[in-house]
Amino acid sequence: MAETIPDLRAVPKARAYAELKGHADAILDGVDDDITAMATIAALVHHAFGYLWTGFYRVVVPGQLLRVGPYQGSLGCLDIAFGQGVCGTAAAEMRTIVVPDVEKFPGHITCDSRSRSEIVVPVLDARGDLMAVLDVDSDRLDAFKSEDEQGLERLVSWFAPKRQ
Ligand code: SME
Repeated sequence: MAETIPDLRAVPKARAYAELKGHADAILDGVDDDITAMATIAALVHHAFGYLWTGFYRVVVPGQLLRVGPYQGSLGCLDIAFGQGVCGTAAAEMRTIVVPDVEKFPGHITCDSRSRSEIVVPVLDARGDLMAVLDVDSDRLDAFKSEDEQGLERLVSWFAPKRQ
């Protein structure tokens, strides 16, 4: 495999995400394994943008419990209940949540004290059921904009091929 992870920190976000999606699709061509895809997408996003923490929390008890999956960064919390923290809220409400300042999000769960802002995107399977959330943390305030929301949602559409 000759794919490497591009450094996209200086590239406008919309273009950067389009490039990342191309890399993800090329690397995952012919792959039918959700964990492989989660690991690949986490590594691509994390290193392309230099984030603090990038990874997936998987639904292990529907409507109740998320458990950490493939990620890059410092140690993540293992279990998060639906409704708790940013991840559990995004899971319970099945919507993307952008947190410009984690200190202003009531109930934010601190896994790494350097985290300043965060985005959590729901991951749907081909039936439209929630299978995971993608959580990305930055050590900068207000790091995530609508381009990140759209770009990350497009990346995780890999898990719901019929819905792309
Ligand atoms: N901050 C998240 C917890 C996960 S860690 O950031 C990796 C939350 O509030 O759900």
